[in-house]
Amino acid sequence: MIAMEMFINGKAVPARSGKRFGVNNPATGDLIDTVPAGDIDDVRGAVDASEEAFEKWSATTARERGKILFRSAQIVRDRTKDLAVLLTSEQGKPFREARDEVQGFANTLEYFAGISASLRTGLVPLAHERYGAVLRKPIGVCGAIIPWNVPVLLMSWKVGPALVAGNTLVLKPASTAPLTCLRLADIMKEAGLPAGVLNVVTGRGDIIGDEIARNPRIRKVSFTGKTSTGKHLMEAASASLKRVTLELGGSDPMIVCDDADLKAAVDGAVRGRFYNCGQTCTAVKRLFVFESIADEYIRHLHAKIASLKVGNGMADGVDMGPMNNRKQRDRIAEVAETVRANGEGKILCGGEAPKGPDFDKGYFYLPTLITDVAPDSILMREEIFGPILPVVVVKDLDEAIERANDTVYGLGSSIWTKSIEHATIGCERLKSGITWVNQHTKVPPDLPFGGIKDSGLGRENGLEVIDQYTELKSVLINP
Ligand SMILES: NC(=O)c1ccc[n+]([C@@H]2O[C@H](COP(=O)([O-])OP(=O)(O)OC[C@H]3O[C@@H](n4cnc5c(N)ncnc54)[C@H](OP(=O)(O)O)[C@@H]3O)[C@@H](O)[C@H]2O)c1
Repeated sequence: MIAMEMFINGKAVPARSGKRFGVNNPATGDLIDTVPAGDIDDVRGAVDASEEAFEKWSATTARERGKILFRSAQIVRDRTKDLAVLLTSEQGKPFREARDEVQGFANTLEYFAGISASLRTGLVPLAHERYGAVLRKPIGVCGAIIPWNVPVLLMSWKVGPALVAGNTLVLKPASTAPLTCLRLADIMKEAGLPAGVLNVVTGRGDIIGDEIARNPRIRKVSFTGKTSTGKHLMEAASASLKRVTLELGGSDPMIVCDDADLKAAVDGAVRGRFYNCGQTCTAVKRLFVFESIADEYIRHLHAKIASLKVGNGMADGVDMGPMNNRKQRDRIAEVAETVRANGEGKILCGGEAPKGPDFDKGYFYLPTLITDVAPDSILMREEIFGPILPVVVVKDLDEAIERANDTVYGLGSSIWTKSIEHATIGCERLKSGITWVNQHTKVPPDLPFGGIKDSGLGRENGLEVIDQYTELKSVLINP
């Protein structure tokens, strides 16, 4: 235990109140470290530092800023193993997944460093042989609030575009997974990031996050988390007319057509649902399979799910770690109980926590497959953020798409087929921010990502995200 501090103005800083809170290992329940329990004044101190750093940082060229992102990515790559061990210990995911996530941080920073040299706008020809110019200006101090499910990757989705565009940032990590984010901020300093450009404040969401949303000196907030929190945040941010990006919950459908490669669709569903113990915004949360292949598909799916090895993310050969925290695990157990008690589906495997000394203290839950799902089941209505996969049999693509779209969410969706016609219909008619064909959950930084309806507002990643971190300014010069 090293008692990590907040990262403000390039320094490790305790909370002004001196209070701290613990971070536990989800696999063992053991306390692994403590971090400062910041409050509103700590956020204001971080905003002071961000404001002061902004003038100089925004006056550097995007290319210079990009170089620091490149260097940061390089150091992160060199220290992947240590960072991944830390991430597994606070988040719970298997080491292999943690390593991929750390690499994802480096990939994203490299992507934004790569586009830094091409961030420009143009001249606009006007009447009488005059020209107008469009300048792209950074917004100022930005805020970022991230959840615990993929904290490292999501940090890069906010830090990369905000900083390359010339803004400074106050970031609040989730209280159950703040440690790797703090370590990464320190690495960025080592890579040459000036003091105050990136500040990380730890503490309760309803205190730190709320102040980030309300503080009038923060001109934009990018939030990733629950839909209910996002709605509250948008309201809180409205008083200062802050720009808001919201990346919220999802209930992604996956459609398996009768002409799909069955093995690929089984592997895809298992990875799409049980990766990160089912705690991914774009996880497969409802699966629709054509009735002509349903029996065979479900049989293979069942066998594969039942063979998954659950355990401590640091143990060899583990496919699925614990859930991140007790509250999430208890919620998933409650969902399974509701399904059982109301006869909302048939639980083919899982539906309980694993038993034995290795599982006593951690927040484990078995991978669960449920068929014969009632149309109005909780599994169809709510976002289920854990390892439960409900499968619904449909007669054809029309029914699958109608059922898939019958949700308040619209984050991701996928269609599994060898037919270009099925694929095209799926891409056109599925209502979501992204549709995959024969894959699910891959989100490269090159493509804009975000949801529609209750899944959010605005986009992250891709060249398009730069619009969300800059103001356009028109200039007319009269010679
Ligand atoms: N669309 C996407 O890209 C995407 C990606 C990943 C996850 N998600 C969604 O995130 C959700 C899971 O994350 P979660 O349970 O951590 O969400 P959450 O409870 O909304 O928390 C997310 C972040 O917001 C903070 N927070 C909590 N209450 C707040 C408040 N009143 N004001 C401001 N900030 C507040 C939390 O701080 P504390 O930790 O201190 O409570 C945390 O840092 C799922 O719905 C998932 O689908 C979406």
